[in-house]
Amino acid sequence: MKRIVVTGGAGFIGSHLIERLMEQGHEVICIDNLLTGSSENIEQHQTSPNFTFIEHDIVYALPEVGQVDEIYNLACPASPVHYQADPIHTFKTNIMGALHVLELARKTDAKVLQASTSEVYGDPLVHPQPETYVGHVNPIGIRSCYDEGKRGAETLFFDYARQFGTKIKVIRIFNTYGPRMHPEDGRVVSNFIMQALKKKPLTVYGDGHQTRSFCYVGDLVGGIIKMMASPDTLQGPINLGNPNEFTMLELAQQVLRMTNSNTSLQFHPLPSDDPKQRQPVIDEAFAHLKWKPTIMLEEGLRKTIDYFLTKIEGK
Ligand SMILES: NC(=O)c1ccc[n+]([C@@H]2O[C@H](COP(=O)([O-])OP(=O)(O)OC[C@H]3O[C@@H](n4cnc5c(N)ncnc54)[C@H](O)[C@@H]3O)[C@@H](O)[C@H]2O)c1
Repeated sequence: MKRIVVTGGAGFIGSHLIERLMEQGHEVICIDNLLTGSSENIEQHQTSPNFTFIEHDIVYALPEVGQVDEIYNLACPASPVHYQADPIHTFKTNIMGALHVLELARKTDAKVLQASTSEVYGDPLVHPQPETYVGHVNPIGIRSCYDEGKRGAETLFFDYARQFGTKIKVIRIFNTYGPRMHPEDGRVVSNFIMQALKKKPLTVYGDGHQTRSFCYVGDLVGGIIKMMASPDTLQGPINLGNPNEFTMLELAQQVLRMTNSNTSLQFHPLPSDDPKQRQPVIDEAFAHLKWKPTIMLEEGLRKTIDYFLTKIEGK
């Protein structure tokens, strides 16, 4: 049994990660300021003696947690609507937050994993994106607080490893979906499902031919845990995502079919800096972790639609 800190554990991905770690019998300390996460996402663990929740903003020095074995750093709003609401705080979360978790790792000699993102590739000029691609990022745009914040955090992780020998792991997560996504996060999967269930027109940005790849959260969490368990020599960065690409139009049709909805599509201009395509190369994940996604889009969408249905029905 390990003592494990998960920052951002009350969020979408973090709560699934905690669920898996608790099932494995570990002691988990969740640190979250509940900015975009919710206590509902972790309420099933609240009575467990192996679980502690600390409401705290990682922009500020971490509370005393004692000796820990592993730290997963997931705290950061992930959807543009949320991270652009207070861009300076988002940037601080990435940079100050990374410094604070790295200091905890240095003090306790814990392994520390950074949840980085495909956004470090920006609007990529290379497609699909291998980890060796250094990206095409606008440093002054409205997405920069997130993209450059995550890039800066990666820099800090690798500098801590070089300067102090800190045991780091960096993963770059591509679009992930599943139950416990924030229904109002403005991202395409939640938008389409919520709109289809409410029989409203589906909002498609641009002409809908831009592509994304979507990974089901259960698959992703398996990859995150495998990365943490890998030998210390494997620092990453490692892409984790689903390489199956879809256009937004294809996704819209699939959601309409699965929700038995026949509402229309409403086209809007593309938001500033929106990447036109995104697809991970996951050869490194397969070579080092024997990981690849197994849940098909239809199966994942079914579980996600069921979750949103319970939200709408207020269950
Ligand atoms: N969901 C995706 O598709 C995706 C893709 C790439 C990377 N990621 C990364 O994975 C991580 C988790 O993403 P998610 O989709 O679960 O997002 P989320 O918004 O659901 O979860 C983030 C959690 O971090 C907490 N948080 C935010 N700022 C904080 C702060 N300053 N101090 C403490 N807690 C704070 C929030 O309250 C929330 O519980 C993020 O770091 C995100 O950048 C997610």
